[in-house]
Amino acid sequence: MKKITIAIDGFSSTGKSTVAKQLAKALGYVYVDSGAMYRAVTLFAMQHQMISKDHFDVKRLVSALDTLKITFKYNDTLGFAEVYLNGINVENDIRTLEVSQSVSQVAEISEVRRMLVLQQQRMGEEKGVVMDGRDIGTVVFPDAELKVFMIASAETRAKRRHNELLERNEKVSFDDVLKNVESRDMIDSSRKDSPLLKAENAIEIDNSNLSLTTQFEKLYALAQNAI
Ligand code: C5P
Repeated sequence: MKKITIAIDGFSSTGKSTVAKQLAKALGYVYVDSGAMYRAVTLFAMQHQMISKDHFDVKRLVSALDTLKITFKYNDTLGFAEVYLNGINVENDIRTLEVSQSVSQVAEISEVRRMLVLQQQRMGEEKGVVMDGRDIGTVVFPDAELKVFMIASAETRAKRRHNELLERNEKVSFDDVLKNVESRDMIDSSRKDSPLLKAENAIEIDNSNLSLTTQFEKLYALAQNAI
């Protein structure tokens, strides 16, 4: 059967990855969480004291980029690929609020984007891929056969994210999570390089009031149509 490329973009915590994973599984496609790659670079910068709340040594990060290797490895039990930074599984470490608070600054750096976009394009070379992020339909795969743009209110998104963090035993306040979601939206949409934009031919889905099953059914039908 013909294989296509599916790009799912949208604001922070719109639940893109949950439904994208489900869709990839149903189609027998590879799922790639591009946000995890920006988060892994951010974790690296934090581990090497290149970034903190009031300091960011962009030069040092850029010159260290070639020492940094991001890979994915499928976990049979979880049913998706986890992210590795220089051979170490960092799937949990990249999901903290601390990483979320710095990631959009790191994602503004063109050198970081160039490196990750090339890797993402290589991962999608053979099609049969569902990739989610901010610039997948606009920059990474402008020719993707199916482009979806997910939106939901900031409150809804912050609630989802807050619950996820609580489930991971991270004690964070709802207000801090909401602030982070709003601040990432602002930085991601206004940056110079590859801002978060709805691609011209993307189909918008507002999932504020949609169950996961309904979202999946919608996406699956769109994919079947595009194949
Ligand atoms: O998808 P997730 O929320 O994990 O992404 C974390 C951050 O990585 C985003 O807020 C954004 O700054 C950056 N990102 C990006 N381009 C992508 C994916 C993520 O700039 N394709």
